[in-house]
Order: sequence, then C-alpha cells, then structure tokens
Amino acid sequence: MPESTPGLEVRNLTKRFGNIVAVNDVSFEIASGEFFSLLGPSGSGKTTMLRMIGGLETPDAGDIFLEGKKITFLPPEKRDVNIVFQNYALFPHLNVYDNVAFGPRRRKWPEDKIRREVTALLEMVHLSGYEEKYPRQLSGGEKQRVALIRALILKPKLLLLDEPLGALDLKIRQALQLELANIQYEVGITFIYVTHDQSEALTMADRIAVMNKGRILQVGTPKEIYEHPVNRFVANFIGNTNLFEGVVKEIAGQDVKVDVPGLMELWGIASENHVAQLRIGQRIAVSVRPEKMRLSRVKPQKPGYNLVQGVVDDLIYLGVSTEFLVRLPNDQVVRVFAQNISREDELWSITWDEPVWVYWRPERSLVLADEAPT
Ligand SMILES: Nc1ncnc2c1ncn2[C@@H]1O[C@H](COP(=O)(O)OP(=O)(O)OP(=O)(O)O)[C@@H](O)[C@H]1O
Ligand SMILES: [Mg+2]
Repeated sequence: MPESTPGLEVRNLTKRFGNIVAVNDVSFEIASGEFFSLLGPSGSGKTTMLRMIGGLETPDAGDIFLEGKKITFLPPEKRDVNIVFQNYALFPHLNVYDNVAFGPRRRKWPEDKIRREVTALLEMVHLSGYEEKYPRQLSGGEKQRVALIRALILKPKLLLLDEPLGALDLKIRQALQLELANIQYEVGITFIYVTHDQSEALTMADRIAVMNKGRILQVGTPKEIYEHPVNRFVANFIGNTNLFEGVVKEIAGQDVKVDVPGLMELWGIASENHVAQLRIGQRIAVSVRPEKMRLSRVKPQKPGYNLVQGVVDDLIYLGVSTEFLVRLPNDQVVRVFAQNISREDELWSITWDEPVWVYWRPERSLVLADEAPT
C-alpha cells in the first residue's frame, strides 16, 4: 500500500494522439517495492502510460513523481527508470555478457565489479555458462531473461515491463511468471508490469490497475478486483462471470431485488458505494462467478437462495473440476464450475440435455452498473 511518499505517483495524466485520448486524466500511486500491474484490453492505453512514465512520450497534461521528485519532463536517461519490451531488444552483435555489461560500461564501472554483478545476475536467472552466446543462439525465454537482468543491473528505482512474456508460449510463460515474481521480490525494485492477460496479472501482481479506453476503472489486490469488481467491465474482464441483465425492483440496505425479464427475480448485494446511486427501475447487471453457483438434479431445499432450472447444454471435464454450461429458460447459457469430489457425488453422472437446478446464495450475486460508483 502507498506509504507517505509513494514510489511512483501519477497525477491527472493525459495523452492525446490527434482525436484519440490514449490516456485520459489518470491518477494512481504505487508503493516502493510493489509489483504493480496495468491490465487492460488492446488499445486501452497501457503502453502509452508506460512510455510517459519512462520518458519516451510527453504528456499533454498531468505530472509524474518518482519517490517524490517530479520527473514529468526529464529525458529517459535522467529518470532512474528502465524498460523491458516484448521484443527482447538485445544487441544482436554483442554476446550475453557484453549485452548485460553494456550499461555499467557506459557508466564506467570497474571491470571486476561488472564481472561480479553480471555473474551473479546470470546465476539468478539460471543462465550461468551463457556468457559467450549471441542473442540468435538463445530461445525466446532465455532472451527475455537476459533483457531483464540487463535492465536490472543499474538498479533503477523503477522497472517498466511491457508484455515482456507476450511472445512466449504458454508453458514457458507460466514458468517465467513465477521466476519474475521471485526476482522482483529478491531485488526489491518497484515493477510496473503491463499485460492484457488477466491470469498473468492475478498470478504476479501485488495490486492491479484495470484500464479501459484510457481510464483506470479500478485499482486493488487481485482478490479485491476478482471478488469486488466495481463495474460490469471489470467483472467480465477479470476471470469468468455470468452476467444477468435486469432491473432494480427493491432496495433493502445493501440487498437488492432484481427482475431478470423472462427468467426470474433474484436477490443480490450492492457495495455500499453502489447502493447510494441505485434507483428503483434502474437497469443493472448482476455478476455471479461460475464457482459460486451450485448444481443439483433434484430441486434443492435452500430457502433464501436464488434458484432457477435449466438444461445441460455442454460439459467439459477439467480434471479438478467440471465446467457445466447450462441453458436457462431465457436462452442465456450460464457457466458453473463444480469440483470433482467423488464418484458417489450426484454431479458425477449429470450429462448432456439433463434438466438441472442452478442455485446460489444472494451474497454471491453482485449488482453492478456500467459506471463505477463515484
Ligand atoms: N504514436 C501513436 N500515434 C497515434 N495513435 C497512437 C499512438 N500510440 C498509441 N496510439 C493510440 O492510442 C491508443 C492506446 O494505445 P496503446 O498502445 O497505449 O494501447 P495498449 O493498451 O498498449 O494496447 P496493446 O495491448 O494492443 O498493446 C490506441 O487507440 C492507439 O491506436
Ligand atoms: Mg501495448
């Protein structure tokens, strides 16, 4: 969490390209040593934000402070910030050792200090013995590890990473996600990690900022963002969710009764901030995560639960769980994750085209508007 002087503060930052507002009046703070992720779909302004923080792009409005010092208009090399891009950007004509030693040599570090540091960093990323290899002799994952330690060797206050694992295949990406998170923890440098992959952000980040259309919609820990999304977009972008489109019927404290036309009346909850802005008759969405829903062949006796009958459209066995796609009377298909516990479990035998009951607790239904509450 941000301390008295944040590691990085971005205040009312805006960047336009012609008619496009790539970054629109964005403010946030990052604590020193935090692993912070900017997450959003393509075109949401992530790279533009990163380039302004790194000094590769000049903002139209707003300010950037690094450990309390204004850096908005400083050139990149005066910022104590480094960047790792998706496309490696190693010097092709230099071997691994010389690539990593490049920055320190420009700073005129003594060669024995350079050797010590390069050797230790290569060891940290499991590339000892790769000193003499050239970039063309390395795999994608190896190149990105070299790019990472090349960016770390000068110990910047802040490291910006723009989809650094985006070009790698899934297995290597997942292995490197863990490695990168461990390295960040070890070196203690503040990271801003840009990705459009929500599982990557959930795995790695201390906190995530969800961006869309040049704005930050929500900042929070992975758990906060997943469990308490502030609006429809965030709920849908982070993880899977079932959205019911409905109209507010009744408001009792934070409990909200919602009419989903052609389907059911259900009870959900709204956050304190949301409740203040809800009106009877307002169109909203109700978000229910697939793992919060239950299935049953017989009608469950669960007073107070939301309950609806449907037909199994499809099911996908996933090892630890089974994903059921259940078609409801309004033709909406909901996704339900059920853990595979035992063969005696009644879920084990449920199959295609069977009628089933879907039920869930009201407090698992989040009432969400398009706009986050202000
Ligand atoms: N140099 C530029 N000139 C004109 N428009 C630009 C420029 N750079 C970015 N944009 C526009 O600004 C918006 C934000 O782009 P940006 O590259 O920041 O998105 P992004 O979130 O990084 O997307 P991606 O996930 O695809 O990398 C887009 O509409 C893009 O077309
Ligand atoms: Mg980008």
